[in-house]
Amino acid sequence: CGIIGYIGDRNVAEVIVKGLKRLEYRGYDSAGIVTADRETVEIRKGAGRIDNLAERLGFLAMDGNRGIGHTRWATHGVPNDINAHPHKDCTGRIVLVHNGIIENFVELKGELLKRGHRFESDTDTEVIAHLIEEELKNSENFEEALRRALKRLKGSFALAIVYADEPDRLYVVRNESPLVLGIGKGEMFAASDVPAFLEYTKEAVFLDDGEYAVITKNSYVVKRINTGEIVEKPVHKITWTLEMAEKSGFPHFMLKEIHEQPSAVRDAIHGNREMVRSVAEEIAKYEKVIFVAMGTSYHAALVGKYLFQRLAKKVPLVEEASEFRYEFEDLVDENTLVIAITQSGETADTLAAMKLAKRKGARVLAIVNVVGSMATRIADLTLYTHAGPEIGVAATKTYTTQLTVLTMLAIETARALGSADEEYLRSLEKQLDSIPVLIEKALSHGEALKELAESLRDRRDFFYVGRGISFPTALEGALKLKEISYIHAEGLSAGELKHGPLALLEKGVPVVAIAPSGKTFDKMMGNIEEARARGAMIIALSDREEVGRISDVWIEMPELDELLTPIVYVVPLQLMAYHLAVLRGNDPDKPRNLAKSVTVE
Ligand code: G6P
Repeated sequence: CGIIGYIGDRNVAEVIVKGLKRLEYRGYDSAGIVTADRETVEIRKGAGRIDNLAERLGFLAMDGNRGIGHTRWATHGVPNDINAHPHKDCTGRIVLVHNGIIENFVELKGELLKRGHRFESDTDTEVIAHLIEEELKNSENFEEALRRALKRLKGSFALAIVYADEPDRLYVVRNESPLVLGIGKGEMFAASDVPAFLEYTKEAVFLDDGEYAVITKNSYVVKRINTGEIVEKPVHKITWTLEMAEKSGFPHFMLKEIHEQPSAVRDAIHGNREMVRSVAEEIAKYEKVIFVAMGTSYHAALVGKYLFQRLAKKVPLVEEASEFRYEFEDLVDENTLVIAITQSGETADTLAAMKLAKRKGARVLAIVNVVGSMATRIADLTLYTHAGPEIGVAATKTYTTQLTVLTMLAIETARALGSADEEYLRSLEKQLDSIPVLIEKALSHGEALKELAESLRDRRDFFYVGRGISFPTALEGALKLKEISYIHAEGLSAGELKHGPLALLEKGVPVVAIAPSGKTFDKMMGNIEEARARGAMIIALSDREEVGRISDVWIEMPELDELLTPIVYVVPLQLMAYHLAVLRGNDPDKPRNLAKSVTVE
């Protein structure tokens, strides 16, 4: 989602509407605005694109000395008029917009309901307004109430808040969702991202996690949520053009989305912690579990298969949705659970597979990124990946967040079945929480991968090899390369090398080996030697130095339980494909002949 706040002498509604349009890339299923002056607070909101809403609801006729706005990418609650932001408390005097996910909102909502609060929407956001209202009863002032409320929130949140009784100010908050202040002369801005206000000022103050700011026309103060202490913040001069700013300074959406993976994975974890248990208990009941998906989502499904085999001791089938729908008519019944994975929720083959499964009486679970998409309407149950909008055609952050959700599901299913040691499951959960940081580290290979790409730009064939749970990573690495660089690439299970592909290896052919420590590590060493003996150029991803010693290029990866490696190991492969595409003059965001979501069969 994108949020914006403005206080100053310009036409408030106009600044906000323009800002929201610049933030539309962050979400666009619904939008809303609140403007306020000394006496009145006015909210207008609805489902749809900003331009249409601005016209239909007359955003530009709204007046005030301050205001906030929101463009939504639904997380809790389908996109409709009621769930659109802003949200308010019972008195209507606390109005706010939110980007992020409140993990403990069910619990907080329960508590507030008992205290007599009434809610209008299904969102986690509305709970925040009511929580502040509740805390206000025991606080000296609004700011204290705000801090007390914020301390109770778990999850990610960037907020902009209007409090009717304090007409000279706005409050904004940042915790694990971005928020930046725009410092003007006699006016202040706050937004999820710089493009929202770049037209008016180039001076920006980036809040850090756990901070909030009180902004007036002529001042801003940044403080810590926990202690209320004032934090001195540096003012940054933004040198980006608007076009660069929309991609947060990255030249392409794909690169931006690759870099968003740490926070996307974090949101996937926060957004699913409450839900996975009950879903896993369902999965545990089924003997027959079948994953259906296409493209990158199919690779996620393959990783899911390994996770379920190893942790839940279940052997799920994985089928391309386009195959499943013609082959499984007689093989699915009410004892089957079909898990459909689709980031868009609109892929025609996947939807057809889901419908077939439903018709045959199977239970259908969907793992989806786009809230309210068709898949969520067909499925009996849906888990969201919370990756935010993905604009690059080649899936990146939607993939790593799919893997995150699948890992959480497999862990909980194992717990429900008692099929794995609890201590081991806890250690996996702990390691999963550290994945965002490990992805950051993997991203730091960016420059080296760019140089590597330079040296590989004219190669005609690539082979990606892996074993076990790294096999799907090999497939995904090869797919990324094909999709955007148009270089021929094959993903293989390393065991298959000897059965054919080895005949294609000659001097200098790049073989990308996915070789984390784990069950098949020694075997992988053998496969790398095999390829090396044919003169192949070995590019290895591994945590182990001995792999480095027998490779031409070693991309050092962090130590991690093998089952979690797919989420981190794919990152350098995405970067390598990206750089190769750019070096070869392709637009990685819009590869030829491909579409983001394939809605024809
Ligand atoms: C298209 C996209 C891929 C995606 C696949 C499945 O081919 O280009 O990136 O993996 O569709 O899409 P879905 O939305 O179902 O995950």
